[in-house]
Amino acid sequence: MCYAIPGKVIGIDDDLVTVEYFGERKQAKNDFFDLRLGEYVYAQGGFVIQKISEEEALSILDAWKELFFKLQEIDSRLSAKPENLYQQANYLRQKYFGNSCCVHGIIEFSNYCRNDCLYCGLRKSNGKLKRYRMGIEEIIETADYAVNRLGFKALVFQSGEDPWYDTEKICELIRMIRKKCACLIILSIGEREERLYQEAYKAGARGVLLRFETSNPLWYEKFRPGHIWEERVELIRKLNSLGYLIMTGFLIGLPGQRKEDVEKDIDLTATLNPEMFSFGPFIPHPDTPLGTSLKPSLEWILEIIARTRIKYPYSRILVTTALETLDRRNGLRLGLLSGANSLMINLTPEKYRLLYEIYPERAGLDLTVEERINSVIKLLQSLGRAPTDLGRGG
Ligand code: 5AD
Ligand code: SF4
Repeated sequence: MCYAIPGKVIGIDDDLVTVEYFGERKQAKNDFFDLRLGEYVYAQGGFVIQKISEEEALSILDAWKELFFKLQEIDSRLSAKPENLYQQANYLRQKYFGNSCCVHGIIEFSNYCRNDCLYCGLRKSNGKLKRYRMGIEEIIETADYAVNRLGFKALVFQSGEDPWYDTEKICELIRMIRKKCACLIILSIGEREERLYQEAYKAGARGVLLRFETSNPLWYEKFRPGHIWEERVELIRKLNSLGYLIMTGFLIGLPGQRKEDVEKDIDLTATLNPEMFSFGPFIPHPDTPLGTSLKPSLEWILEIIARTRIKYPYSRILVTTALETLDRRNGLRLGLLSGANSLMINLTPEKYRLLYEIYPERAGLDLTVEERINSVIKLLQSLGRAPTDLGRGG
């Protein structure tokens, strides 16, 4: 199984190429390869991440062809009747992106964090949490397996804010991964120095997942003691100007948050030129100061996904694990039917996974990686979604 379908290069305009997938055209930026018309590539997040031979591409496309059109038909049928809010959002998702769905892998490589966010189980004052750090070699092995054995084309490398991984280590990691694995490298390592991000870009990272958490500066400073909201938002803008694809968003259901506050969160995300919206429910962790708060309802999260899609139809929207945790049976499916078109699969080695406890009882961790992949594929097929790149622009 692969998590992207190869496309044919049918146009080249400087570093921007047009890639065709079964008649559909998407744009992708080419930073890394010498490309000619007619060659075949994999793209992720609107970046060309691998060039493959025509022979290999045609055999993969042949295997996909029949299924691809069948999936398109299922998706068109499921999104045809825009009667309620969720269906309107699903209709727009289909209209703007067809049946494409991004499937990214995520590797959580360290649960150490120097910060003390009131909402997070990884906060440094949580003395009950057993901490781990994966070595550079171990992270590379995990990525190698994910890309070269399981077929992932985009990987998020996530950790608490852990300065043990300095600029040198992060860049070494990225360079080694680039050498072994054809994939889009996305960093989710918190508010680190600008220089680190500059060097990481040079080494080959192209995405950053960094939420601003809340559009309310006072709440931000209350929930993240010692941090300044403007600095966070400025860093996100800066990273975008360096060339990074930005995945950003906010927490829903923080104590005191009202519906109109979330509206501002959605709008702020949109101003940050996001490659992807990443927002999800706040789930209280008992070993944090917000441990006795209430979690938001599934319906509220679905409504926010739908409203985001309707207001910003050309956005890519992630179903977060936290949403899946609110409703293990239906969270992912309902998210994808309410306007979302992206998801992540947790690839953290089993011995560490339970320790990355941002919030308790995270969904999907009771399955092995292979079981989880199979269940996701089954779900995507039942919804008529295909793992093609969502493309650039919009
Ligand atoms: N519930 C849900 N999401 C959380 N995060 C941190 N703590 C929680 C929680 N209790 C999210 C934050 C952070 C991301 C890594 O995890 O939004 O940016
Ligand atoms: Fe650390 Fe991020 Fe958790 Fe804050 S939300 S404590 S920065 S891991």
